[in-house]
Amino acid sequence: MMTDHKHILVLTGSGISAESGISTYRGGADGDEGLWSAVDFQKYASPEGFREDPDGVHNFYNVRRAQIRTVAPNPAHFALARLQKYLARQGGSLTLVTQNVDDLHERAGAETLHMHGEILKGFCNMCDRPRFMVDGDLHTSDGCDACGRIGTLRPDVVWFGEIPYHMDTIYDALGRATLFVSIGTSGSVYPAAGFVQEARNLGMETMELNLDPSDNAHAFDVAEYGLAGDIVPAWTAQWGV
Ligand code: APR
Repeated sequence: MMTDHKHILVLTGSGISAESGISTYRGGADGDEGLWSAVDFQKYASPEGFREDPDGVHNFYNVRRAQIRTVAPNPAHFALARLQKYLARQGGSLTLVTQNVDDLHERAGAETLHMHGEILKGFCNMCDRPRFMVDGDLHTSDGCDACGRIGTLRPDVVWFGEIPYHMDTIYDALGRATLFVSIGTSGSVYPAAGFVQEARNLGMETMELNLDPSDNAHAFDVAEYGLAGDIVPAWTAQWGV
């Protein structure tokens, strides 16, 4: 029974934020072609692209950051936050890992591990200043408040070729959970796309909640297809939340 699972690991992708008005990367519902169909990901999501055109890359993330500040969490975000709180009260856990760089899970009340970083934060390339919240925009003319250097600040987004965050915590949670759930992700980017096979190897039950079958659909025991805003609340309703 689904509700027998006390410890659950949930992975989300851009599909869960699509109904909030944030475009996916590779396409979704209602004419959403996906960000990477409009712009070159090697230019806007790689350290090399940033070195070649830091102003262009800053502008790209400034526009996205401003847009994210105008949207709100949707029913799928709130349903996961409710289930996380419910399972915690029952002595269980819902570990929420997201590939998304928006803050909609947190705004819905969920504790979240951002394995690809957080667009509302920035860091200095040259000093070990902690991640800081970005007020407004970032520019190459900005100075670092800690080391004073100019032009060393960048968005706290993990780009292609860089190591994702929280991998040890994620693998610990994989070892503890009995159910792995993947929501709103195409399963095309590793290491996240490999979690389902890791979960299977550990004997966990696996489930996909997505608009359509992902690249890894074959690896899931159970699948529900539809809009996250509909199918995620329907799934958490089994726990009465
Ligand atoms: N409800 C449910 N699923 C949806 C919805 C929706 N409303 N809209 C789209 N989807 C599904 C799509 O069918 C697709 O399978 O969400 C998935 C989105 O896939 P991608 O655009 O590839 O996004 P994601 O999987 O999060 O990308 C992974 O790639 O570009 C990098 O670092 C970036 O974190 C990102 C990573």
